[in-house]
Amino acid sequence: MAEIFETVEKILVDIAAAQPTNAEELEQFRIKYIGTKNIIKPLSKEIRNIPNEQRKDFGQLLNKVKKSAEDKFQSLQSGMEAGAEDAAGDEIDLSAPPSSMPLGSRHPISITMNRIIDIFSRIGFVVEEEREIEDDWHNFTAMNTPEDHPARDMQDTYYLKDSTSMLLRTHTSSVQARVMTSQKPPIRIIAPGRVYRNETISARSHCQFHQVEGLYIDKNVSFADLKQTLFYFAQEMYGVDSKIRLRPSYFPFTEPSAEMDVSCFICDAKGCNVCKYTGWVEILGCGMVDPQVLENCGIDSKEYTGFAFGMGIERQAMMLYDINDIRLLFENDVRFLKQFQSAI
Ligand code: PHE
Repeated sequence: MAEIFETVEKILVDIAAAQPTNAEELEQFRIKYIGTKNIIKPLSKEIRNIPNEQRKDFGQLLNKVKKSAEDKFQSLQSGMEAGAEDAAGDEIDLSAPPSSMPLGSRHPISITMNRIIDIFSRIGFVVEEEREIEDDWHNFTAMNTPEDHPARDMQDTYYLKDSTSMLLRTHTSSVQARVMTSQKPPIRIIAPGRVYRNETISARSHCQFHQVEGLYIDKNVSFADLKQTLFYFAQEMYGVDSKIRLRPSYFPFTEPSAEMDVSCFICDAKGCNVCKYTGWVEILGCGMVDPQVLENCGIDSKEYTGFAFGMGIERQAMMLYDINDIRLLFENDVRFLKQFQSAI
């Protein structure tokens, strides 16, 4: 008889020692000690073989085993549910304060371009954006660039595969042709955008870069208007003390043509390595729209005159932000880009 007491005692110890760690093990615990075919049931049937004087003790022992199995199951189950809640809470804690969103910053090219757009917008220039894949006519022919002009050379221009007429625009002057053939004067636009030239990539030049084009066409537009507009731009962009200098130059689509320098704002025109100790920095090309260009685009050159200018953005951004390698502007390295802050 002592044996059966021992068996039950052993079950009691086993229950106390059991350590199910997951739902599956807990279920096995339940089946073994609580389920309909639990191992305690057959033992309770033995009660009839127990001598009378020991029946009460045996019955109490069995009850103790059942209760300890049930209690242990309950506490393990609620413990696991709480644990699961905790674990889920680790993933989504709705009460936790949000982690801060990293703030983006504008690209230095965008900042510089937006400043230029802002300056010209204030005197009535409206933004025109056009295609980067252009045809030969808008990029060259309309702009008075003859067939044998070196700018058309395969080494300078990216033509589309198997095409002699479709190309990546080499300058934003193509937008002049697009606007003049689709709008009637007065025209007063600026055209920011990306341009492409087949050039070897180095610290100072790239095969893609950005320009802002300007075009003003109306009755009686003169070179004085051009000069005053550009002077206003230089003062707004580089400070009220800035001076400008126009040097005679040549472009097929403007006559007369000029290149504009601005007094070096880094050294106050005293001489530094940015202005190469000349006190002047070249900013843009400009001129009066060649009457032939107006005619090419269907505008009467006897009635209208105009001026145009085109400036590169990269060089200006590099000067403004003291960047010494143009390639940095195209690599999108976040460590470089996050240094730039701007309100526009
Ligand atoms: N398109 C010229 C260039 O890319 C710049 C320019 C524009 C010059 C308009 C005169 C007038 O160099």
